[in-house]
Amino acid sequence: MSSTDTGRSPGTVQTDDPRSLAVRIRGLRKSFGTLDVLRGIDLDVRYGEVVCIIGPSGSGKSTLLRCTNLLETPSAGRIEVLGVEITDADVDIDAVRRHIGMVFQQFNLFPHLSVLDNLTIAQRRVLKRSRQEATRIAQENLARVGLSEKSQAYPNQLSGGQQQRAAIARALSMNPRLMLFDEPTSALDPELVGEVLTVMRNLAAEGMTMLVVTHEMAFAREVADRVVFMDGGVVVEDGPPSEVLTSPRQERTREFLHRVLDPTHLTRDELTGEEATTDSVAS
Ligand SMILES: Nc1ncnc2c1ncn2[C@@H]1O[C@H](COP(=O)(O)OP(=O)(O)O)[C@@H](O)[C@H]1O
Ligand SMILES: [Mg+2]
Repeated sequence: MSSTDTGRSPGTVQTDDPRSLAVRIRGLRKSFGTLDVLRGIDLDVRYGEVVCIIGPSGSGKSTLLRCTNLLETPSAGRIEVLGVEITDADVDIDAVRRHIGMVFQQFNLFPHLSVLDNLTIAQRRVLKRSRQEATRIAQENLARVGLSEKSQAYPNQLSGGQQQRAAIARALSMNPRLMLFDEPTSALDPELVGEVLTVMRNLAAEGMTMLVVTHEMAFAREVADRVVFMDGGVVVEDGPPSEVLTSPRQERTREFLHRVLDPTHLTRDELTGEEATTDSVAS
C-alpha cells in the first residue's frame, strides 16, 4: 500500500513503536447517571493485533469502543491510544483521532455526495490533501474493497454491503493506525455480510490493528488474535479464540455462546466441555 502521507502529526502520537501498545486501558469506568455501564475494564491491544469483543446487548461494548476515541468521556480510569494518554485533560484528541478509523453499524455516508467525494472530503479538510492526491488515495482504497466501479455512484445506489465497504474505504483513506469496528455487519442482509467480512479479513492479513465488536463468531474464530467476552460492564474472559470460543472457562461465556452460536459451528459438547476435554476440542 502507498504510504506517501503517513498523516503523522507533530504531536506525541507514536504509531510505529513495536514495543508500545496500540491501546492500553486500565480501570475504565463509565456511568450514565446512576447506570454503571463500564465497571473497571482492563484491555490491551498490541500493534498488528485483531481483538474481537463479543457479549450480550447492553454489556457496554459500544461504550467501550466510544471511550477508546473519547466519543464518550470516561468516568474513571486511564486510556492510552497510540502512545498518547487520551484521558489526560490536556490531550489534543483531534491529533489522536486522525489516526483512528471508526466503522459503525450504520454506514454514515453523506447521501448527497458521490462515493468518491465521501472518500475525499475528510482527506482534504482534515489532512489538507490536494484534490488530486485525495482522489488517488480514494481510488486506491476503493480498489482495496472492490468498489472501483462505484466511485461516481451515490450511497442510495449501493447495496448495504457496498455502502459498508465504501465506509471502510473512507476510513482507510485517512491512513489510520487503528481501526475500530462496532458491529459492522449487523445492519446487513445476511447475503451481504460475507463481502464486508472479506474486506476486514484482508485488512487483518495486511497487519492492520483492529478492535472489532461483532456477533460473527466464525469471523472472530478465524481472524481474531484474541476474543474478549464482556458482560455487565466487565471483561469476563480474554484469550485466544481457541480458548474463549471453544472451551470458555466462565459459565457466563458458555451461556452466551450457547445462545448465539450456530450449532453447526461448534457442537454442544464442545461448548459445555469441562477442563478434561479442553485439549481435544481446541483447534
Ligand atoms: N448516552 C447514553 N446515555 C444513557 N445510557 C446509555 C448511553 N449509551 C449507552 N447507554 C446504556 O449503556 C448500556 C450499554 O450500552 P452499549 O455500550 O451500547 O452496549 P452494547 O454495545 O454492548 O449493546 C445500555 O444499558 C445502554 O442503554
Ligand atoms: Mg453496541
